[in-house]
Amino acid sequence: MTAINAVTDLTIDGDVAVVTLNHPPVNALSQAVRDGIHQGIAQALANPAVSAIVLICAGRTFIAGADISEFGKPPAGITLPEVHAAIENATKPVIAAIHGTALGGGLETALVCHYRVAVPSAKVGLPEVKLGLIPGAGGTQRLPRLVGAEKALDMIVTGVPIGAKAALEAGVIDELAPEHSLRGHAIAFARRVVAEKRPLAKVRDRDDRILPARGNSALFEAFRKANAKKYRGFEAWLKAVQAVENAVNLPFDEGMAREREMFLALRDSTQAKAQRHVFFAEREVAKIPDVPADTPSIVVNSVGVIGAGTMGGGIAMNFLNAGIPVTIVEMKQEALDRGLGVIRRNYESTARKGRMTAADVEKRMGLLTGALDFNALANCDLIIEAVFETMEVKKDVFGKLDAIVKPGAILASNTSYLNIDEIAAITRRPQQVVGLHFFSPANVMKLLEIVRGEKTSKPVIATAMQLARRIGKVGVLVGVCYGFVGNRMLAQRQREATKLVLEGAMPWDVDRVLHDFGLPMGPFAMSDLAGLDLGWSRETSKSSTLKEILCEMDRRGQKTGAGFYDYDENRAAKPSPVVEKAILDFAAKQGITRRAITDDEILKRCLYPMINEGAKILEEGKALRAGDIDTVWINGYGWPVYTGGPMFYGDTVGAANVLAAMKDFEARFGADFKPAALLERLAAENKRFADL
Ligand code: 3HC
Ligand code: NAI
Repeated sequence: MTAINAVTDLTIDGDVAVVTLNHPPVNALSQAVRDGIHQGIAQALANPAVSAIVLICAGRTFIAGADISEFGKPPAGITLPEVHAAIENATKPVIAAIHGTALGGGLETALVCHYRVAVPSAKVGLPEVKLGLIPGAGGTQRLPRLVGAEKALDMIVTGVPIGAKAALEAGVIDELAPEHSLRGHAIAFARRVVAEKRPLAKVRDRDDRILPARGNSALFEAFRKANAKKYRGFEAWLKAVQAVENAVNLPFDEGMAREREMFLALRDSTQAKAQRHVFFAEREVAKIPDVPADTPSIVVNSVGVIGAGTMGGGIAMNFLNAGIPVTIVEMKQEALDRGLGVIRRNYESTARKGRMTAADVEKRMGLLTGALDFNALANCDLIIEAVFETMEVKKDVFGKLDAIVKPGAILASNTSYLNIDEIAAITRRPQQVVGLHFFSPANVMKLLEIVRGEKTSKPVIATAMQLARRIGKVGVLVGVCYGFVGNRMLAQRQREATKLVLEGAMPWDVDRVLHDFGLPMGPFAMSDLAGLDLGWSRETSKSSTLKEILCEMDRRGQKTGAGFYDYDENRAAKPSPVVEKAILDFAAKQGITRRAITDDEILKRCLYPMINEGAKILEEGKALRAGDIDTVWINGYGWPVYTGGPMFYGDTVGAANVLAAMKDFEARFGADFKPAALLERLAAENKRFADL
């Protein structure tokens, strides 16, 4: 074995040279890896004893792509296209031996090899769109030549990798290797290629799979149309479609040149920067400085849930899905039956859509036990409370739990706003108490805010973070404050949206502006969905807010067919003249002189106070990093990924610009817009939240 460089070895096994990359964690194509491949291939070609070359990786995976952390830095060393040319033009067959994930530039490297073998557990894909990119090293030109235009479109535009077996059927790989003898199998395969005098197959030279789509612009147009809604706001996917269409219609080299051009333009775009930021932020979020990875954790093999309402049921489903038994406790048989019924119906509906079998439904329901007595929770490792949102009720529940539940168990609250420290103080084990704030619908939304109380122990935090991952959530550690990170910032937007409507905008104006920005829906459409009567009662209603007025008119949201909007039988929303009049009357009663409000003002008034509140959250240490706040908003509220989250968006606008607008609003509208000290500092120092 010869070391080529710090990350590459060359071994000569008889007449086969094996180039092995070893660059943990994922063998990303950093400068050293590119160099290593290039030199390894050159040395193997120069060695007269070698008749074929295997490219393989050590560690957990084949090359998982370009090194994303190198993007945005000046290019250094040999480029990937140069490495690829050396492989593709090699005068001896090069065989890629794939395990783990061959993604992006990794799959592109495999596609310039003359043959590909993979173990059954391997996955291959081109996930570049998820980073706001298109494949930039031939992926859009070579993949269609192997799998056809339609399959390539699907793989490149969704970015979802496929398994080795599917890859074999689609034509991406040539052969499956036994799971645990990839190296030996690849060497044997290489010898077969030599013995059978198989050609130095170059994917670029094939056109049999793309010919059927040549000149068929309707195919691509239909694809664009069918996906326009799904990828609203994203730039890269349309470029990807264009690149595949080029692959089908243009000579290979021209298609390559256009791919590279689009790739480079996208790489430097705001969207790609934002999506890279999100990629790293979602990984960094798991790193808690004073709770290192080796912090002991608590074994969680059974979970208790208190309250089988909207949240309790959804929370339970997460654990059932992960195979963890759940005991759910309610106050009355009726409420329990209703809660269990909702869970079953949810699963059955998933099964009807073909996404689960009837046996899966029964397996999950078999892990679920209903009870009316807290004693049923005595042996649970973790208990999550999801009862009514009042401090007295929460305290009562935690007091009872503390008396019953085994020592060492974790006691969690799903409270949206209440003080975890106050709840913990009622128990004799405040170190075991933590907030686990799920988002509705709790079985769907990916976000889990993990609320760290003053006394919450490190093992409890470590356990909560691990558990989030186990149930497929993104766990974000937050501190105790009203509304924690997500709802605290949301309140800023809600307040301004309501004020804007009284000052001169209409609900549909505000919703349109925020929807166009990329949010799934605006605040008023969201209120209609949730129901305007949350916390409302006819007895106490005094026509003192617009919401009260609408509820009194029996416009209580989608469920009553009317709220801020009118709804038709298909639940399509239409602006309502009745609401318009109600707004004008209410504004007049309040003595407000309405004025024309621009879309620009709507956007800034709704979003900048959120960024400002995020700055306060950072100042107070209620979130560890700006990227954590972005992770909350992307996973909990559907904030558009391609803007990177509210704080990254603030960086894009620039602290000085956000500050100037806040000061202007403060002068016109008062203290709601008082700038955070941190925002002032960043503006003065010309820094970004990302620099903190
Ligand atoms: N570049 C740099 N670092 C990377 C990386 C990459 N392509 N892929 C992963 N990493 C890092 C992660 O940041 C993480 O670092 P950390 O431990 O310091 O937080 C570490 O590798 C492990 O990553 P994960 O925690 O994500 O590990 P998993 O085992 O859960 O997942 C994976 C592994 C499936 C490979 C996943 O990391 C992944 O999807 N990576 C991105 C793959 C990708 O997008 N490739 C395309 C890149 S763009 C490209 O290739 C352009 C080309 O067309 C020219
Ligand atoms: P819900 O009213 O739908 O359900 C609460 C359930 O708890 C009811 O079924 C009730 O019978 C039961 N319950 C009340 N006291 C109990 C007790 N002492 N013992 C056993 N069961 C009891 O309320 P929802 O919406 O599920 O909210 C629960 C908690 O989750 C609240 O703290 C809320 O703030 C929080 N939350 C709610 C979200 C939402 O969108 N609904 C989102 C995130 C958190």
